[in-house]
Amino acid sequence: MDSHHKQSPVIVIMVPLPVQSHMNQLLRLSCLISSHNIPVHYAASTVHNRQVKLRADDIDPLDLERIHFHDMPLRPIVFPSPNPHSSTKFPTHLQPLIEAFPLFRRHFTVLLHGLLSPTAKRVVVIHDALMASVVQDSVSIPNAETYAFTASSAFSSLFDLWEAMGKPFQIAAEVVPSELPSVEDCLTFEFLNFILNQIEFLKFRTGDLINTSRSVEATYIDLLEKVPGNKRYWAVGPMNPVTICSKHGNSNNRDKCLSWLDKQAPKSVIYISFGTITSVTDEQINEIAISLEQCNTKFIWVLRNADKGDIFAEECRSAELPEGFEKRTECLGKIVRDWAPQLEILGHPSTGGFMSHCGWNSCLESLSMGVPIAAWPMHSDQPKNAVLISEVLRVGLIVKKWTHAQEIVESSHIKEAVRRLMASEEGDQMRKRAHAFRESFKQSLGNDGVSCTELESFVAHITR
Ligand SMILES: *[C@@H]1O[C@H](CO)[C@@H](O)[C@H](O)[C@H]1NC(C)=O
Repeated sequence: MDSHHKQSPVIVIMVPLPVQSHMNQLLRLSCLISSHNIPVHYAASTVHNRQVKLRADDIDPLDLERIHFHDMPLRPIVFPSPNPHSSTKFPTHLQPLIEAFPLFRRHFTVLLHGLLSPTAKRVVVIHDALMASVVQDSVSIPNAETYAFTASSAFSSLFDLWEAMGKPFQIAAEVVPSELPSVEDCLTFEFLNFILNQIEFLKFRTGDLINTSRSVEATYIDLLEKVPGNKRYWAVGPMNPVTICSKHGNSNNRDKCLSWLDKQAPKSVIYISFGTITSVTDEQINEIAISLEQCNTKFIWVLRNADKGDIFAEECRSAELPEGFEKRTECLGKIVRDWAPQLEILGHPSTGGFMSHCGWNSCLESLSMGVPIAAWPMHSDQPKNAVLISEVLRVGLIVKKWTHAQEIVESSHIKEAVRRLMASEEGDQMRKRAHAFRESFKQSLGNDGVSCTELESFVAHITR
């Protein structure tokens, strides 16, 4: 143990759910906590640690160096390839990961005992809410405390929980949106069961952390605290750098997309990305392509296949664009086939809209950059996030209706959505509101801002 440990009466162990969007959030939280001179350990499988570090290219390397990564060996898991044609967009190809959780549990328990030191006053385990079964053995350690981290919006967590528990308390009618996607439609049966099984292991937690901001979701955070069995919530989001100082700066290896954006008119480009764990069918890609050619709007389109369980395993499919599309749209847009610097793209003055699956990371990044959203939800919390974005916060519109999840969205419809978002009075209003969120996020991150005080209060609580 280095001297750092000896001085610190508190250590923190992070246990992320091993999918990109969740790992990313806990990594960022790790940096924030370790900046308070608290040692932070990050426990994931060897491949997942490698993945999250590789993709954290906007995090200061010095911040990363302070995190103690623990590689948990994962016996080779055979992952099926993501299937873009499956009847559900839920990433069922990742199911083998969940089946490996008993193994994760054993590794975690060994790690926990290894990190216990007589000088540690308290061991704080911050685990993804979905990893509750993995950290269950913390209960047997007298000075350990667990906190569940929710990587989704307070809005979707609240209504999922409310529904799953059989609506155990009243929620004022004006707070409940008219059309709320039901939790069963958003997940597979297996996954819903898996979630329900976690509830038992959540009983012992001391509190909850959630990556959202009271400046956006105060109503729903307050309601979450009232759910029977729930405890104190610390809303520690969004916390991303609102003014980005890219390490690529003016150097030669600045991403091609960004230098292309430099040459475009303000707010003229639509950024399109459907996240890391779903893939879109060739048929649907074709419709998007046709609409882009027709509406003559500048675009950056991230066209990747879903992450496999092991992203370093060989790639299997490359999405097909219509013949000649890239040549014909050379002056109109850019296709990105690998990792895109999303936050920097959203923060670029030329970007005026985001067509998104409404994963919570994407929603937060878009709001904190003041960019309105054309919502195209796929699964899990996304359909509810789309309601939050369009109906509640009114910073976006719906491209793909959840009730039509099984259908292909036709090019004429996509074209109309792009026009409304990018070139209409209605779209301008959304952009204004999104911009106001950006401003309130900036404030919330200032010294006395809500996000900052929540984090300070959490740190004070664990070091009490
Ligand atoms: C919350 O999510 C945003 C968007 O991905 C991320 O930038 C931020 O660092 C996350 N915050 C925490 C505390 O995890």
